[in-house]
Amino acid sequence: MNIDDIQVREFSGDDIAGFLEYWYDGDPAFLKSLGVNPEKLPQRRKMREMLELDIARQGRNGNRPSALLAIALQGRTVGVHELTHLRPRTGGARAGFESGVMHAHIWRAAHRGRGIALASYVRAMQDYFRRFALDAVLFESPAHNKGANRIKEKLGIAPSGESAMRWPLLDGAVRTLQYRVTPAALPAIEQRMRQAWRERSR
Ligand SMILES: CC(C)(COP(=O)(O)OP(=O)(O)OC[C@H]1O[C@@H](n2cnc3c(N)ncnc32)[C@H](O)[C@@H]1OP(=O)(O)O)[C@@H](O)C(=O)NCCC(=O)NCCS
Repeated sequence: MNIDDIQVREFSGDDIAGFLEYWYDGDPAFLKSLGVNPEKLPQRRKMREMLELDIARQGRNGNRPSALLAIALQGRTVGVHELTHLRPRTGGARAGFESGVMHAHIWRAAHRGRGIALASYVRAMQDYFRRFALDAVLFESPAHNKGANRIKEKLGIAPSGESAMRWPLLDGAVRTLQYRVTPAALPAIEQRMRQAWRERSR
């Protein structure tokens, strides 16, 4: 596997089955380990409808771009990035959004720990900055999630604070480390990602 085998692209109808499998067919203990309460997920049918609607809206004039991106390994989708809590920019001449909170899910254990997210985080941030004219991409990484925090460390993204996240899908408050990435920081982050990949390949 090399770095160019990992791509970030538009989420499409072909990706829906993998998305639903990840959220609805896995071990509930895995979702609980992320802090998610599986019983708070929307019904599977409802989730499918939401994904189909999102895909149908893509590319139509005047619509907000999709916040869901597929992570592809050698052309096959293995997970997604998502941007939530998009905060529209108010006042001033520039349209777009001040910030959004970015997430990552590599669906199968066999694809984790191979450097895929290291590359896909950077590609997804580049794409989100372009799509939403963001001032910053934010992360709220559960403090207990070693992978999610290690990636930021490897990319040289330092935590900017801590929080207790209370989102509808979560079981109570989850302690998080917060991160904030601006477009200006991205070139150095990309360099670190490439360096980390070179070290992996040695
Ligand atoms: C977190 C996640 C996105 C990381 O993606 P990934 O492709 O597995 O990460 P990478 O292979 O690029 O690993 C980057 C670094 O993090 C480390 N890492 C990844 N997962 C880890 C884990 N569970 N525990 C400890 N370290 C981990 C890797 O070892 C690597 O560091 P190293 O080079 O020093 O060994 C992925 O494991 C995942 O989807 N997990 C389930 C969902 C999730 O936790 N999402 C994030 C927050 S909600």
